[in-house]
Amino acid sequence: MGTTRRGPASLPQPIASRSVMVPKPTPKRFYGHGIPGVDLEKLFGKLIVIEGADGSGRSTQIARLVQWLEGCGHATVQVGLKRSTLVSEELERAKQGNILSHITMSLFYATDFADQLENIILPALKAGFMVLADRYIYTLMVRDLVRGMDEAWLKNVYGIALVPDAVFYLNVAPEQLVQRNFQKNHTLDYWESGMDVGLSRDMFDCFLQYQALVEKQFRRLQSTYGFTIVSGERSAEEINAELQEKIEGVLVGK
Ligand SMILES: Nc1ncnc2c1ncn2[C@@H]1O[C@H](COP(=O)(O)OP(=O)(O)OP(=O)(O)O)[C@@H](O)[C@H]1O
Ligand SMILES: [Mg+2]
Repeated sequence: MGTTRRGPASLPQPIASRSVMVPKPTPKRFYGHGIPGVDLEKLFGKLIVIEGADGSGRSTQIARLVQWLEGCGHATVQVGLKRSTLVSEELERAKQGNILSHITMSLFYATDFADQLENIILPALKAGFMVLADRYIYTLMVRDLVRGMDEAWLKNVYGIALVPDAVFYLNVAPEQLVQRNFQKNHTLDYWESGMDVGLSRDMFDCFLQYQALVEKQFRRLQSTYGFTIVSGERSAEEINAELQEKIEGVLVGK
């Protein structure tokens, strides 16, 4: 009679026997022309986007999601606007100077996005990471649309983007956003108030009007891009519970 060989009891369990849910691969695609030479079938990770206005709670939610996902055994990577190695510093300087035309500024942001897509998002997805994006092409498009730029042109530029596995838009009323931004930063941001658009000389009034326009554009794009609108006016815990439930669905390939 043969004997079963067993290792010493103190050895850690083999990884395969731990309950790490391997994300079910689902087909990926680009919105348009994409990036040449990318094998979409080899992108095993998931791209989850959290969209929302300044102060809508994106960072709060992403921090919780990272903790939860990593606790479940998933490696995570975070990306966001103005975070590329290539142009983030230059982009910040351009914002301070406010001298670039809408088109140049738009292409500057597109460059920042493309650099992160090529050098962070795609390699991370290939390695099976969960990529959490703090805003994506939608904020960039919406900001430009509010400034009167051509939608077909923007769609063509952002045809480079990968279609995420899920996009959540944290919906918070402008009045609530003002309060949160004041609480956090003791001021409102020039650009997020749309001061360059000149809706009002009063920053507070401008912020309310501008954010209303932004929200309107987001809702318009929703039918094309299929965001899930999540009410951001509940407690951080409640919002996160909803996001976790929906992301679990993404992991099992729903
Ligand atoms: N669900 C919530 N209810 C009330 N306050 C919240 C909630 N979530 C976040 N906050 C608070 O609102 C402020 C903005 O939150 P947070 O920094 O997460 O938002 P954000 O969308 O990342 O903002 P930013 O655009 O500045 O990066 C913070 O002071 C935070 O503590
Ligand atoms: Mg933030």
